[in-house]
Amino acid sequence: MSYLKLPELDETGYVVVDSYPQERDPKEWEQLIYVDWKSSGDTRFSPIASAYGAIECDGFWNHNPPKTDKDGVWVPENVALAPVLTARAQEPGANIGRCRVIELQPNTYAECIYNLHRDDNNRLNPEGTGWIVRAFFNLTDNPDSVMVLREDRDDPSTETRIPLPAGAQVVIDTQRLYHAVWHPGNEPRYCLITSYESGPQLQAWIGARNPISRVPSAPLDAAIVTAANDEAMQRRAARAAALAAKGSDPTFGDGTMSAGPTMEVLSEA
Ligand SMILES: [Fe+2]
Repeated sequence: MSYLKLPELDETGYVVVDSYPQERDPKEWEQLIYVDWKSSGDTRFSPIASAYGAIECDGFWNHNPPKTDKDGVWVPENVALAPVLTARAQEPGANIGRCRVIELQPNTYAECIYNLHRDDNNRLNPEGTGWIVRAFFNLTDNPDSVMVLREDRDDPSTETRIPLPAGAQVVIDTQRLYHAVWHPGNEPRYCLITSYESGPQLQAWIGARNPISRVPSAPLDAAIVTAANDEAMQRRAARAAALAAKGSDPTFGDGTMSAGPTMEVLSEA
């Protein structure tokens, strides 16, 4: 038994689809209710769908009763404030788990590389059902920011950098690919992130939007890449050593695994 996965994501683990005309929509993300939730950088989140409809962002498996990242419950307060974003999340028609807007403060490329992580999207997901993947709809216009993806966290040769102008739409198997966003600039970046169950609905939505499974990386000086990679690996090693000395496992308070080969459970990018 295994999971139903989309062939569109087989080759690279991601697919870029046609951009959305973001400029025509109101900036609903400016009105939403946010909660502090540190994940992959200096972040806050606004849940539009959560495990049981409360304004909180914890993984669905951490609730009682625990559940997999499906059947998210709409958060009435935020749905009322963001009907267009809610409709966009619902557009593919696939089962939705977590759905939230991320607010990410500016960072550096080196910090982004240190933040690379994989998501724990399929915890408790029954085999034989659809594999959970995540869609990223960039809301603010951040043409100089990039979604950094790596098949191997420590190997820059596996890296793809996808630019994030307003309206950019990317579907990513974030349990397969290490990911984080490099967001230079002066203002926070906002992005709608939704967990979807793989299946015919999501496949049809992708198929109708000219999917591209391998895009050219945004250019970046090789020396910068190497320096950032070295720094990130040193920071991870130092952190792992410090935690080992204390006898604790290398887990952040939010459930993020910062070092080691095991699954990392950070939830956003
Ligand atoms: Fe993530």
